[in-house]
Formats: sequence, C-alpha cells, structure tokens
Amino acid sequence: MEKLLIHGGIPLNGEVTVSGAKNAVIAVLPAAALVEGVCRIENVPHIKDVDIILDILKQLGAKVKFHNQVVEIDSTTINRNVATYELVRKMRASYYLWGALLGRFKSAEVATPGGCSFCARPIDQHIKGFEALGAKVTIHNGNMLAVAEQLKGSQIYLDVVSVGATINIMLAAVRAEGFTTIENAAKEPHIVDVANFLNAMGAKVKGAGTDVIRIQGVEKLHGGTYAVIPDQIEAGTLMIAAAVTRGDVIIKNIIPKHMESLTAKLIETGVTVEEGDDAIRIYSDKRPYKANVKTLPYPGFPTDLQPQMTVLLALAEGTSIVTEGVWDSRFQYVEELRHMGANIRVEGRLAIVEGVPALSGAPVNATDLRAGAALVIAGLAASGITEVYGLEHIDRGYEDFEGKLRALGAVIERVKV
Ligand code: EPU
Repeated sequence: MEKLLIHGGIPLNGEVTVSGAKNAVIAVLPAAALVEGVCRIENVPHIKDVDIILDILKQLGAKVKFHNQVVEIDSTTINRNVATYELVRKMRASYYLWGALLGRFKSAEVATPGGCSFCARPIDQHIKGFEALGAKVTIHNGNMLAVAEQLKGSQIYLDVVSVGATINIMLAAVRAEGFTTIENAAKEPHIVDVANFLNAMGAKVKGAGTDVIRIQGVEKLHGGTYAVIPDQIEAGTLMIAAAVTRGDVIIKNIIPKHMESLTAKLIETGVTVEEGDDAIRIYSDKRPYKANVKTLPYPGFPTDLQPQMTVLLALAEGTSIVTEGVWDSRFQYVEELRHMGANIRVEGRLAIVEGVPALSGAPVNATDLRAGAALVIAGLAASGITEVYGLEHIDRGYEDFEGKLRALGAVIERVKV
C-alpha cells in the first residue's frame, strides 16, 4: 500500500500542462472496437483506467500498442463479444463495451458494473436506448445480454440526462440501419469528443454538444487518427488547487470555454482568473469569499469538481451552500475534511460549509477519485503534514498528479506504507 505525504501551506507557483480527458478516452477506446481498421489515438493519459480498458480490448482480440500518449488499436481481429465480470470488474466505465460490441456484432454480453463508492448507479436509460434500437436486453448472472437481429435507428428520449447512456446509445446507433435521434442528450465536452472521434472514423453524428443528437447509421467504420481533448476535470482540479493555496499558476492545454462554470465561481470567491486561447492563469493572495454552488449536467457546474470546490469554500469567509444536483450522494469525503478542521454539515444533497481560517494536516482516506483529489488539495493548503490513503482511486484518473503538483512547488511524496 502507498500513501501521499504532503507538507502543506506552500502556495503553488509556475506552469502545468493538462493531460488528455479521462472521461473522453475511456469511451473513445471502447469505441475503437466498432472500427474494422487501425485507430491511432493521441493525447491519451497514462492512468489506471486506460491500462484496464486496453487490457480488456486485448483480451477481446484487438491488437493494442500504447507508447508516449499514443494508442494504436487494431480491432479487425476482435473475435469475442463477451466480457465477463473477471475481465471488467476493475472498472465501472467498462459499460461502454455494451454499446460498442452491440454496434459491432449486434449482440454483446458484458458484466454489469457494480455500484460505485459514492452512489448507486442505475442503467435503465442505457437499456431503454438499446431496446429502442431493436435489441432484446436481459440481465442474467450479473451480465447484460443484448441481442438484436438488426439494429434499427430510432427516436429515443432520455428521461434523465445521462453521460453514459448518451454515449452508449451513440456507439450502438452509429452502425444501426437508418436514423437515430437522442433527445435530452447530455452535452458534456467528452460527448462531443466521442462524436468527433466516431466521425473521424466515418460515422455520421450531428448535434453532439446540444440536447438533440442525430445519427445516420453507416455500414462500417474505417481507421484513422484522432487526438483526445484536454481533461476538463483535471484542469479544474489544478485551477482550484492554485486558488486554495493562494498561488499563481498558469494552466496550459486547457479549453477555457469548458471551464466557464468554474471560472465564474472562482471569480465570485475573489480569485483572479485570466483566460488565454488555450491557457488560464489563476492567482489569489487572500482568503476566498463564500459562494453557493449547485452541480448540474454541462454547462452547469460539474459534479466531478464538487469535492475540490468544497475545499476552497471550507476556507472561505462566511457560509456557503453546496448542492449536489447530479448524484444522490457525493459527500463521503466531508468526514475526512472534518478531521482536518473543516466545519461542514451534510443534509441530504446539501453541504453547509462554514468557512474556517485554516485547515490542519491529518491522516485521511480517499474513498473515490474526486474525493482523493479534494483531500490532496486540502493537504496542500493545510498547516503541517497530511497523509492521504486510498491512492488507487487517484491513480485511476489523474496522470502523474503528485509529479505535476511537485513541479508547481508542492512538497508531496508517495511512500510505501
Ligand atoms: N442515471 C439514471 N439512469 C441511467 C443512467 C444514469 O438514472 O441509466 C442517473 C444517475 O444515477 C445520476 C445521473 O443519471 O444521478 C447522471 O449519471 P450519468 O449517467 O451522467 O453518469 P455516468 O455516465 O455513470 C459519468 C462520469 C462520472 C460523472 C458523471 C456525471 C464516466 C466514466 N463517469 O458517469 O465521472 O460524475 O458522468 O457527469 O464518464 C468521475 O470522473 O469521477 C466520475 C464519477
């Protein structure tokens, strides 16, 4: 087991470059299974989730190379459409194999993901979409079995705005016969990225990034080259880390438009944000003001930045209300922040954050990816030493997190326990 040791209280300073987007790449890689040809995918972050998904693709029969942020996948040789629990258990987002294998083979059997560490995760909207495309879906022995004689384009209205269901339906529909419309679709930047990837491989997807996506099915997809967008959530995490430590950081390889909801909130708390074309400078030299935050689907404030933002507000002057509007519960990390001196009360989907002047280092445990990032940020701002456990969560989704922070002046090291 490993832990991070952080000597806090040092303002971050300097320049840092954002990696490719985790939540885009973990959909783009399975999407390559739809392609009979070689996909060259650039700007792929080296994170655990990528290793796992590449391993799964190899076991399904694909030829895979990963070197210097570039993945080459030849899916021509994929000869299995079954991915059992043993294969996919390490990763919830393996659910993108449903859409990809169903689109490719018209039938797929993939284990259903367990719940995640912060919430139950229903899959009814994925199933609704596959059924509308003509698949018969059954859950048997923990596997989702989707079988279609033919996939046929359809009009699908999502009852809940779901990133996963939107992407999964897109994956199956690109190789369905005819025309599919997804209404009330999610609009996250990674939805647009997956659509752009599919189009680069010969698909016909229009409207991604709006709430109506239109897909003209094609018979085959061809190989090609694609570069994944920068990670909106990693960028936001670094922006908040700069603000919390009252530092001065230029964050490069960022799409400022994707950061608008966070930028607006940081400005509200008194942090200075300067936008360039593909860089953002963040600086602050004073205690933040309070602000209320409600997470919502894009373009609202991202739920995946909620724990990190709560750390900033925990140090603000005054009382802030944080409302989780996407997941039923996502405040498990609050208990850990309390060990560091934060004064936060959770009532259902609300966290009432009474700002305190300072946090102090403590041993804390990350229970999920973004909780882990939040605890690291808290440790960077706190006085004394913070020990963060549960690094397997952070390693799933942040490329060289502590290396990037160290380059900004943080005193942080990974040690064996
Ligand atoms: N939902 C349903 N039915 C469904 C699907 C979702 O009711 O069939 C509900 C969920 O319970 C939730 C809401 O819809 O309340 C949104 O869920 P969504 O499907 O959008 O989430 P997801 O696709 O499972 C992705 C990210 C999450 C991120 C959410 C929201 C991946 C692998 N995961 O999850 O990222 O929080 O979208 O933006 O892309 C993370 O990166 O730390 C993370 C958890």
